[in-house]
Amino acid sequence: MPETTPKGLTRLAFGGDYNPEQWPESVWQEDVRLMREAGVTMVSVGVFSWALLEPEPGRYDFGWLDRLMDLLHTHGIRADLATPTAAPPAWFYRDHPDALPVSREGVRYAFGSRAAICHSNAGYRAAAARITTELARRYGTHPALALWHVHNEYGVPVSACYCDGCAAHFRRWLAGRYGAGDATAAVAAVNEAWGTAFWGQRYGSLDEITPPRLTPTACNPAQQLDYRRFADATMRENYTAERDILHELAPGVPVTTNFMTALSQCDSVDYWAWGRETDLVTNDHYLITDGRRTHVNLAMAADLTRSVAGGAPWLLLEHSTSGVNWQARNPAKRPGEMARNSLAHVARGSDGAMFFQWRQSRRGAEKFHSAMLPHAGTDSRVWREAVRLGADLDSLAGLRGTRTVPDVAMLWDWQSWWAQNLEWRPSEDHDARERADSFYEALYDRHLTVDFAHPEADLSAYPLVVVPALYLATEAAGRALRTYAENGGTLVVSYFSGIVDEHDAVHPGAHPGALRDVLGLTVEEFSPLLAGESVRLTGPDGAAAGLTGDVWTEFVVPRGAETVWTYGDGPAAGRPAITRHRIGGGTAWYVSTRLDAAALDTVLAAACDDAGIAPRAELPRDVEVVRRTGDTGTYLFAINHTGDDAKVPLDAPGTELLTGERVAGRLAVPAGAVRVVRADA
Ligand code: GLA
Ligand code: ZN
Repeated sequence: MPETTPKGLTRLAFGGDYNPEQWPESVWQEDVRLMREAGVTMVSVGVFSWALLEPEPGRYDFGWLDRLMDLLHTHGIRADLATPTAAPPAWFYRDHPDALPVSREGVRYAFGSRAAICHSNAGYRAAAARITTELARRYGTHPALALWHVHNEYGVPVSACYCDGCAAHFRRWLAGRYGAGDATAAVAAVNEAWGTAFWGQRYGSLDEITPPRLTPTACNPAQQLDYRRFADATMRENYTAERDILHELAPGVPVTTNFMTALSQCDSVDYWAWGRETDLVTNDHYLITDGRRTHVNLAMAADLTRSVAGGAPWLLLEHSTSGVNWQARNPAKRPGEMARNSLAHVARGSDGAMFFQWRQSRRGAEKFHSAMLPHAGTDSRVWREAVRLGADLDSLAGLRGTRTVPDVAMLWDWQSWWAQNLEWRPSEDHDARERADSFYEALYDRHLTVDFAHPEADLSAYPLVVVPALYLATEAAGRALRTYAENGGTLVVSYFSGIVDEHDAVHPGAHPGALRDVLGLTVEEFSPLLAGESVRLTGPDGAAAGLTGDVWTEFVVPRGAETVWTYGDGPAAGRPAITRHRIGGGTAWYVSTRLDAAALDTVLAAACDDAGIAPRAELPRDVEVVRRTGDTGTYLFAINHTGDDAKVPLDAPGTELLTGERVAGRLAVPAGAVRVVRADA
């Protein structure tokens, strides 16, 4: 079994990407002195250093990295050492111009940035394996080495390459998936799976198949969906190749690659599959300042990361101390916001909080991105807050290895999301990510901690499972949900769920094919609304219940389910809008329109009632309460995102770890502050 925690790290991870190759070595001494002052325990090094480590093909210059690793070790700082394979050197592209990826439009990307990689390219694969091997041999037993960091954010920002090399690799992948390696056997299965009888797309041989490049009108949806799977699997081949080299040559050191689970930041990676391949799940998270509640978005990404880690502790490998530089407008974080962000990740399972980056760059594309040590130096708010955070994390070291306690589950599947984002769906106003965000936000506002689950997962541990727009759902997923409800669970399912199978083919018969049984209904026809149109829903007692929906309506035919809310107007007037099906010992709710936040809360309140989940009315809005528990005790995190002081009821008396105070009864959480209470044993 590979190690799953950074080797030799005895505290929570605190530090950042450290890129000292941008500075004269005289600065390094100041760096390590200040790292110690801030309580830094681990830094990520070498992430983009390939051109310096291998200045010419096969000629290596490890001197500077040797000195750096030794320096870190001397100062007791652990190293998360990267393979630099996200940034091949200029000389590599001179020899391998075909390793530059090609867009769907047929445009080849150029050198001069980073992450310009065709993952099918054999030259790239060989060069990546060589530099990985050299690093593993040289540093595998270095005393500073704690963790291997493979590559950087696979899938960001180039999600797929459409070059001829990828076309050939795609055909091999299809032969494997559809013909157990036999290309001739595969072609019939591909024709069937992709429905190529439609629009005369039948293939006589796999050689005729190309990537889903730019087409005059809608490209075959099953082909596009398989290409996304292929692109994801191809990146994973490259990740596992590097990982296996590191495992072999440097046993005992865990291997990770930094994810980007926020749905707004990466849509090309099926993290369920990747979570199984990493020894320690790590994530990068940046606030998207689009006017929405950034702390809710953060909580969702953290919960999703923990879920792909199977509930085990994970590590926040990058976030920002203050503003980023890649949005249209990049506000600085408010006083205290960095600590709230960091500790919210810790509450939701991260064994530490790390940043991009340690020292702010003077040159290059990211010089306006905040850092732990800003251009302004140590006489700055950001630095003082970083030092304070280091001390806070130090006082929380005891919770390493404990697990976040979930209340409910939400189903999420990247492949269903990909399928839903293809063109020519019933309404372009329907957005699967928006539904997931809204369902999550509604649960957050009910102060419920959410685990995400794959649709075919065992859900029996959860009293309530919500299913926002799970358009692609296999028969197996349908059976799993039915079993879950029959055994006493409560389900809440959104419209546009259970419609197609894994090939984007509509399940036979009336919608929603995979979920008809569990929901006790069929859908005769979709009737999405026009832009700006909304509908009123009438409540159980016949009175207008004040609920509204927009974007979507449909003609629901109950077949066992009872109608709870009815459409009061619009195309489906008089028909069921929200239904409840009692099945076995459980209940399955169905919501056939896009509810606004208030309406969603009303339905979730009723479902929570079915599930026996009591309202947490004593907790104010935007005061986040999350628990971690394990061998060293139970820890209650209270994070006050508001401008008002708050009170949070404690489960048990205990010690507040950031202030050292004894606390009992109702815990005071000042405006903008975080409190962490370890309950008395
Ligand atoms: C990503 C990258 C980092 C840096 C940050 C900036 O997470 O991994 O190298 O570019 O974004 O926000
Ligand atoms: Zn390619």
